[in-house]
Amino acid sequence: MGKTLIVYYSLEGHTREIAEIMAKEITAETLELKPLKDISPGALKYMTGGSQVVKKSTPKLQAYDVDFNDYDLIIIGTPVWAWTYTPAIRTFLTKERIAGKKIALFCTNRGGEGSTLEAMKKELTGNQIVSEISFRTKKEDKEINQKKVLDWLQEIKINK
Ligand SMILES: Cc1cc2nc3c(=O)[nH]c(=O)nc-3n(C[C@H](O)[C@H](O)[C@H](O)COP(=O)(O)O)c2cc1C
Repeated sequence: MGKTLIVYYSLEGHTREIAEIMAKEITAETLELKPLKDISPGALKYMTGGSQVVKKSTPKLQAYDVDFNDYDLIIIGTPVWAWTYTPAIRTFLTKERIAGKKIALFCTNRGGEGSTLEAMKKELTGNQIVSEISFRTKKEDKEINQKKVLDWLQEIKINK
């Protein structure tokens, strides 16, 4: 099995938590995308975050030093914002133009994933999407998700 990289963005930690369970389980490396100026996680987040999505914003990210060619599988994770993927992930997909890779996708949400995974796949043509999954992250989902993550990792290994 080659190396796996988990690329994700997380405003409030739900996506990070899932990415970290994965990283630990399959000893993968992680790349957390961090906008230089992120939205504030307070009460106005739906407005500010939602408006970034509508404007198709591509916020500048903190620099990272990763050679994507080093990895056999790239797992990309995003929270759902306004029924699609987050601006930081848009920056990543636009800037990196990943091609010829095995990719697995996951999103976290409150039950309304909308077109998130489909929209990400459109930006990733030229890659092989080996699997995709959506996690609902309400409080009561925490335990279910821990098992769901592990089951999904098994599935990815089979699909690889
Ligand atoms: C700006 C914003 C927009 C959101 N839009 C949606 C949505 O359309 N559908 C949904 O189910 N959850 C939505 N959510 C909830 C998040 O997707 C969910 O809480 C996610 O797990 C947060 O991940 P994080 O903790 O890694 O940031 C939204 C959250 C924010 C901050």
